[in-house]
Amino acid sequence: MVISGARVRDHGFHRLRIRRVEPETAEASSFVLDVPADLRRAFAYEAGQFCTFRVWIDHTPHLRCYSMSSSPDADVELAVTVKRVPGGLVSNRMLDTLTAGDEVEVTCPAGVFCLDPRDDADVVAFAAGSGITPVFSLVKTALTATERRVRLLYANRDRDAVIFRSELEGLAEWYASRLEVVHRYDVEDGFVDGAAVASFAGDGVDAAFYLCGPTPFMDIVEGTLAQRGVAPARVHVERFAPADAGLSPTAGDGAGATQVTIELDGREGTTEHHPGTTILQVARQLGLPAPFSCESGSCATCMARLVEGTVEMYVNNALTDDEVAEGWVLTCQSVPTSPSVHVVYGYEEG
Ligand SMILES: Cc1cc2nc3c(=O)[nH]c(=O)nc-3n(C[C@H](O)[C@H](O)[C@H](O)COP(=O)(O)OP(=O)(O)OC[C@H]3O[C@@H](n4cnc5c(N)ncnc54)[C@H](O)[C@@H]3O)c2cc1C
Ligand code: FES
Repeated sequence: MVISGARVRDHGFHRLRIRRVEPETAEASSFVLDVPADLRRAFAYEAGQFCTFRVWIDHTPHLRCYSMSSSPDADVELAVTVKRVPGGLVSNRMLDTLTAGDEVEVTCPAGVFCLDPRDDADVVAFAAGSGITPVFSLVKTALTATERRVRLLYANRDRDAVIFRSELEGLAEWYASRLEVVHRYDVEDGFVDGAAVASFAGDGVDAAFYLCGPTPFMDIVEGTLAQRGVAPARVHVERFAPADAGLSPTAGDGAGATQVTIELDGREGTTEHHPGTTILQVARQLGLPAPFSCESGSCATCMARLVEGTVEMYVNNALTDDEVAEGWVLTCQSVPTSPSVHVVYGYEEG
């Protein structure tokens, strides 16, 4: 089946050269990428978006998303910042081997963790560790391209782990009346808890909240904001790692058997659905190499078109309303809700 439609995302990988590698801390470096003139339009991005990188290790491709730490409004160059994950396959490979002049395989920017141009409320951001990356981009854009006030609570293990410390200090000085940055260090202040979140959030339930960090941190911030009456629509989250909660083991447990048909790269398979299994997992059962990265509904790497039946999508922090209306689903978050479901993965190589 051929997927058509003007809004199909360009999921193809483009080869970009690394212009510079800038060490940020002992564990994190920024990769400044050269975007050639013929790809500038394709690589135009919004603050808070990410690119998916394809990194080959032992002849096997691994897909990982990295958010732009640069801002399209404040920076000329496009940069991502990668932090080492203990035992992590791709982050360590990138940090240990990539140097200026090397090429990387990257998709065009994507993601919905962005500022709403119609919103002029204060931006209140909570970031921890590498979660600062998209938040730093958002902060720079909010300060340079809007009049919005910005408050950032930034949690790290200790002072040495703080990425972009001097840049944030410079911004706080330059935009003294519009930017407040509060650092928290686990070793000095303890982990961020509900009281710290409540105290930093203040009474401003109408602010636009942006959250990015490890799952326990996100859970505490999200839970505390909800308790304080902040509407879910005011809270924007970017999850780097799958949420612990996962899908209910009975998710998709309808009456009677459900048949799932999946098409990918000219291959097709059909099987009976086991309750609690996502469409992505069904693809794996069928031996189809379905693309994925975050498995938490944040990156859209796993998106496919639903051409028959219905699904329930548990988390969607990646697809736009238009894409959902066109039938795109995040297969890592979708379980069937009709007796027969048919999805088509429609990647286009660049
Ligand atoms: C939308 C999006 C944007 C992202 N942006 C960035 C970014 O700007 N900078 C950045 O450094 N990372 C970012 N990530 C995370 C990144 O994609 C990888 O998940 C991360 O680098 C780990 O990959 P790995 O191959 O090194 O580890 P893996 O080999 O995949 O995982 C090794 C172990 O670490 C755990 N793990 C995976 N990710 C994390 C994590 N982030 N923190 C702690 N433990 C983890 C896994 O559960 C596993 O147990 C982003 C993720 C998403 C979905
Ligand atoms: S793999 Fe990232 S949204 Fe499904």
